[in-house]
Amino acid sequence: MCMYERFGFCVEKMIAMLVLLILKPGTVSAGWPVTFENPDVCAVKGSSVRLSCSYNYTDGETVENTAWYKGELKDGIWKRIALSDLSSYVNRSEYIGDLQHDCSLAIHDLRDNDTGHYYFRFDTEKYGRRSKTSVFLTITELRARVYPDRVRAGDKVTLECRTDCKRINTVWFKDGFSVAKPVFQAQTQDAGNYLCAVEGQESLQFAPVSLDVQYRPENISILMDPPHVVEGSSVNLTCSSVANPAADNYTWYRSNVSSSMLQVGSGQVLSLSSVDASHTGLYLCMARNQVGENNSTEVLLTVDDRDKMPLLTVHHIILFVGIGVKVFLVLLLPLVIIWAWRQRRNSPVEKEESSNDYENMSIG
Ligand SMILES: *[C@@H]1O[C@H](CO)[C@@H](O)[C@H](O)[C@H]1NC(C)=O
Ligand SMILES: *[C@@H]1O[C@H](CO)[C@@H](O)[C@H](O)[C@H]1NC(C)=O
Ligand SMILES: *[C@@H]1O[C@H](CO)[C@@H](O)[C@H](O)[C@H]1NC(C)=O
Ligand SMILES: *[C@@H]1O[C@H](CO)[C@@H](O)[C@H](O)[C@H]1NC(C)=O
Ligand SMILES: *[C@@H]1O[C@H](CO)[C@@H](O)[C@H](O)[C@H]1NC(C)=O
Ligand SMILES: *[C@@H]1O[C@H](CO)[C@@H](O)[C@H](O)[C@H]1NC(C)=O
Ligand SMILES: *[C@@H]1O[C@H](CO)[C@@H](O)[C@H](O)[C@H]1NC(C)=O
Ligand SMILES: *[C@@H]1O[C@H](CO)[C@@H](O)[C@H](O)[C@H]1NC(C)=O
Repeated sequence: MCMYERFGFCVEKMIAMLVLLILKPGTVSAGWPVTFENPDVCAVKGSSVRLSCSYNYTDGETVENTAWYKGELKDGIWKRIALSDLSSYVNRSEYIGDLQHDCSLAIHDLRDNDTGHYYFRFDTEKYGRRSKTSVFLTITELRARVYPDRVRAGDKVTLECRTDCKRINTVWFKDGFSVAKPVFQAQTQDAGNYLCAVEGQESLQFAPVSLDVQYRPENISILMDPPHVVEGSSVNLTCSSVANPAADNYTWYRSNVSSSMLQVGSGQVLSLSSVDASHTGLYLCMARNQVGENNSTEVLLTVDDRDKMPLLTVHHIILFVGIGVKVFLVLLLPLVIIWAWRQRRNSPVEKEESSNDYENMSIG
């Protein structure tokens, strides 16, 4: 039923539509009544996302209801299903907007199947309005890796954490501390587990990757048991080191006044039995793993002679001898004096004879 037709268009209908558009109450002059700040949102699985949204309506109206919907394919037809009717969103979606102009939505603990189109709808006492466009939410995963994952101290290491989201920045943590640079020269203390996280949501950490830093033996030391060696006894020298992987090859060397460093054994423990003076010398152990080798500091082994007095105790002996002599004198001198006195009183003849003997002996 068209009275005026021009260029294939029905002029009456067009005029009616234009009048409707201009006069329709509630139609907001600038754009749609619902505006999404970012219609294409990307977020990481397990994290939280905020779908920022604002809405507008004619002054004087009062908002009575708001709701978010998800586009779902049901029986081959796309339908908008209210999130409140989808059990998987019940505790994870949160309307953080209000009944004025903010219609933002937060979704927590994001899952793969949260990917999709989201719509907003609000009702005033006069009209219900729904967004014509949607927010498309993409859920992606963090792909973390460290390469190479086994290095030697000093080698370059790269931490890489990727997502499909262009706008998402990621950060790395190790032992609760953020890692300053994702590319570094590995030191022994850099070994361990690294966690990647989304910047701004650091409490949620994903995908641990581990780095193994290998190094040659360090801090090599020798333990002498017992610490003082007596001639004829036995002694164990044990070589210990810090290494990754653990040292598996030990070589023992000894030097003394008559020789420079000579190999004297192998194995982590060097057992010396019935030790004698020839064992005296400076000992060192060389610890080796597949990365390299390193030497302990030298340890002096001296053998104490059982028969001769050890040098250290000579002054003690002098002291003891001195005390002994004094005790002897104090106890025996009175006895000697008494004995001499009694001899002189009882037998003067004998005394004469003995003095004769003495003279005779001296002459003979
Ligand atoms: C809402 O609409 C009013 C006019 O109806 C306009 O002045 C205002 O700028 C709009 N606000 C937003 C956020 O679009
Ligand atoms: C939501 O949380 C409440 C209370 O924590 C719980 O009872 C309910 O089972 C949860 N619902 C779903 C769908 O997870
Ligand atoms: C989404 O996946 C979760 C498990 O990850 C499942 O419990 C839930 O039913 C799924 N929801 C839909 C709508 O497919
Ligand atoms: C091992 O080698 C390093 C580097 O040459 C050196 O600093 C260290 O003192 C050596 N000895 C031990 C016992 O680690
Ligand atoms: C070696 O000893 C030093 C000092 O005690 C220490 O700082 C260092 O961490 C040790 N090296 C290893 C590999 O444990
Ligand atoms: C030395 O070690 C061996 C075993 O390795 C042990 O039988 C011996 O008693 C140890 N000797 C000393 C003096 O500790
Ligand atoms: C220790 O290293 C030396 C020198 O490389 C080698 O000859 C020896 O077989 C090694 N010993 C063991 C037990 O691996
Ligand atoms: C360790 O000591 C042995 C014997 O003195 C020597 O041949 C070797 O070169 C030393 N190794 C290192 C790494 O200092």
